[in-house]
Amino acid sequence: MIKLTKRISRISPSMTLAMSAKSAEMKAAGEKVINFGVGEPDFNTPENIIQAAKDAMDKGYTKYVAAAGLPALKKAVCDKFKRDNNLDYKPSQIVISNGGKHAILNAVAAVVEEGDEVIIPSPYWLTYPEVVRFFGGVPVYVETTRENGFKMTAEQLEAAITDKTAMLIFNSPCNPTGAVYSEEEIKAIAAVCEKHELCVLSDEMYEKLVYDGLKHYSIAEVSPKIKELTILVNGVSKSYAMTGWRLGYLAAAEPVAKAIGSFQSHATSNVNTITQYAALAALEGDQTPMAEMVKAFADRREKMIEVLDGYKQFGLDYVKPEGAFYVMLVVDKFFGKSLNGKKVEGSMDFAMDLLAEQKVAATPGICFGDDSCIRLSYALSMEEMVEGLERIKAFCLSLK
Ligand SMILES: Cc1ncc(COP(=O)(O)O)c(C=O)c1O
Repeated sequence: MIKLTKRISRISPSMTLAMSAKSAEMKAAGEKVINFGVGEPDFNTPENIIQAAKDAMDKGYTKYVAAAGLPALKKAVCDKFKRDNNLDYKPSQIVISNGGKHAILNAVAAVVEEGDEVIIPSPYWLTYPEVVRFFGGVPVYVETTRENGFKMTAEQLEAAITDKTAMLIFNSPCNPTGAVYSEEEIKAIAAVCEKHELCVLSDEMYEKLVYDGLKHYSIAEVSPKIKELTILVNGVSKSYAMTGWRLGYLAAAEPVAKAIGSFQSHATSNVNTITQYAALAALEGDQTPMAEMVKAFADRREKMIEVLDGYKQFGLDYVKPEGAFYVMLVVDKFFGKSLNGKKVEGSMDFAMDLLAEQKVAATPGICFGDDSCIRLSYALSMEEMVEGLERIKAFCLSLK
């Protein structure tokens, strides 16, 4: 029998497997399941991007290219950083990877040694601790509060730092909470990182998805010193509805980017060349389709907030999300109640029973380190969203 490595055995099995299986089974049986579990925009990739990929194929751009990315795309990424974040990077500081996920894995591989601690504000995107553990790191969670909008304070960060801390994973706008840190809050966090020379992996995948006139602020903007300490991750998946194309990128100090580029050259080599031409069109082309998508998300968010405000009287609560396309619905008031003689004991039970009873799929908060909530994605049509919320209310009211 093949003996598995310690590092791969540290990866947890998917917590939502049972739910996905049940949901697929229901759909196969012809039932209409409303899915609040989706982690990607429900929009097609804009036409100009698709055309750029077709053109790349027609022109025969189907060969290997430089492992860390097409020079033209790296240049376009630098232009994007300048345009959107007022950050100056050179192409030699950029690595193009297979999605933001791959960029995160590369960053952790480059910085985290066996036994190092990595600070992760909780609730967190579930991949972070898995990647950290894979490389022998120890996730250290900082519990944020609903009162503080699920945001970690500088004081909390300071208190979590030890001599073993090697990295902070910072995610604004945040999946799963939708929290967006303000410039002031980010400056306070950056000051702590500067003081401790702490590396920050800043995951800014949802940069474009912010609402109420907010503007995303990157921690790397705070000062040259924090920029030097930051590995900035972004990509085209969420901003341009390109999740399946698999393209993300990172920017870092030159030696870090160089080391990551070498690692990638032996691991995966270049991202699919055609995808890179598509991403070039996304970053440099017409931004109107993206703006329309953001507008649609903003409208759904408005509606979601309006409906959920009306549900407070039934014991449902939430923290107003300012970015991404998720909201954490607080459902713990219903724990301990029963349906058909079966008690709901936590967010997993809640989500499983909600699916069985009302054919609504949502992600249990326990997956993100917060068992009091379920995460609702609003990457679904307005009609489905409203119908789904109605069903959630009905489910809650049926719990006795
Ligand atoms: C917070 C966060 N970071 C990174 C990613 C990875 O994005 P990609 O699909 O580009 O790998 C996701 C995807 O769900 C995400 O939610």
